[in-house]
Amino acid sequence: MDRTEFEAIVAQAMLAPSAHNTQPARWRLDGACIEVHADLSRRLPVGDPDDRDLEVSCGAAVEGTVLAMAARGVGADVTLSEGPVEAGLRMIARIALKTTADTGDVELANEVSNRLTHRAGFAPSPQETLRDWRADHMTLVQDASQIEWLAGQIDIASARVMRSRDFRSELLHWVRLREGDPNYHTDGLNREVLVMDAATARFAPTILGGRLYDMLSFLGLGPHLSGEAARSCGAGAVALFHWPENESMVAAGRAFYRSWLQATARGLVGWPAAALADDPLTRAAVSDRFSIPADRVLFNALRLGVANGATPSRKRLSVREVIV
Ligand SMILES: Cc1cc2nc3c(=O)[nH]c(=O)nc-3n(C[C@H](O)[C@H](O)[C@H](O)COP(=O)(O)O)c2cc1C
Repeated sequence: MDRTEFEAIVAQAMLAPSAHNTQPARWRLDGACIEVHADLSRRLPVGDPDDRDLEVSCGAAVEGTVLAMAARGVGADVTLSEGPVEAGLRMIARIALKTTADTGDVELANEVSNRLTHRAGFAPSPQETLRDWRADHMTLVQDASQIEWLAGQIDIASARVMRSRDFRSELLHWVRLREGDPNYHTDGLNREVLVMDAATARFAPTILGGRLYDMLSFLGLGPHLSGEAARSCGAGAVALFHWPENESMVAAGRAFYRSWLQATARGLVGWPAAALADDPLTRAAVSDRFSIPADRVLFNALRLGVANGATPSRKRLSVREVIV
């Protein structure tokens, strides 16, 4: 594989989703193999102390690489690796080239540039859009009253994780509220993707960073501050993602990304709600209510529906920055 082709593959692979848009995956060309590494400087030590979301994000990037190769007619043989940490990089996978690509991968690759996170809300979504869509790693919730319950749980879980001042300050580190921020268009979550008006953006650092949030949270207003319930209720479905407890979260991330792309192929946008999996009490309540087996762990949830309006533009680092 020559350098130009490698860079074209990385450009498409890096469109994969990542927690807080940290974009932790890094790519290296090693002879006839593409290596994917995790840049440990992009960890979220407070919000993701076990690196679950880091690994899910890198897994999505691995799957993105496989699909980008398939789009060029090249097959992929993936070996997940628990490689050593070197210069702040942890080896995640080695991807060897094969002569033929899977036809399913070629079709799914067409959806990569259409997929994105849409937080503005959903238009009514016809139930039949998701007919016959199932996977072992996913429990699909389509009943309106169950979606309403999950919407409430998302806000309760977010309020619980947001109670930690360290969590809020880590979040603020990845939030770009001013268009003048040098990273506004490259990584993290900016005002546009968060659908945040200018007035809220002006006060957000003061509220999130200081004691006012602690006080409002103490008064039981936490779930209202998260304020996603009305928009979550508009989702046509919520997909709950679970994975065998002792198995690789990188593999889970590959499956998560594939499912999201399959939903995209059905004309839907997605909006993850990782808080459901992050907060132990909510995770237990959701797992119990939807009979997720005890040997599987809920690792993310995706609100799905028809976009209610314009979707935001994509924010990414440059290809050069993610090649090591
Ligand atoms: C593991 C993981 C967890 C995520 N959790 C959330 C979440 O809880 N809330 C949210 O709004 N977006 C969440 N996202 C979406 C990311 O913020 C999004 O993928 C990133 O900003 C890049 O934007 P894009 O998906 O439009 O390409 C998550 C994504 C991943 C991969």
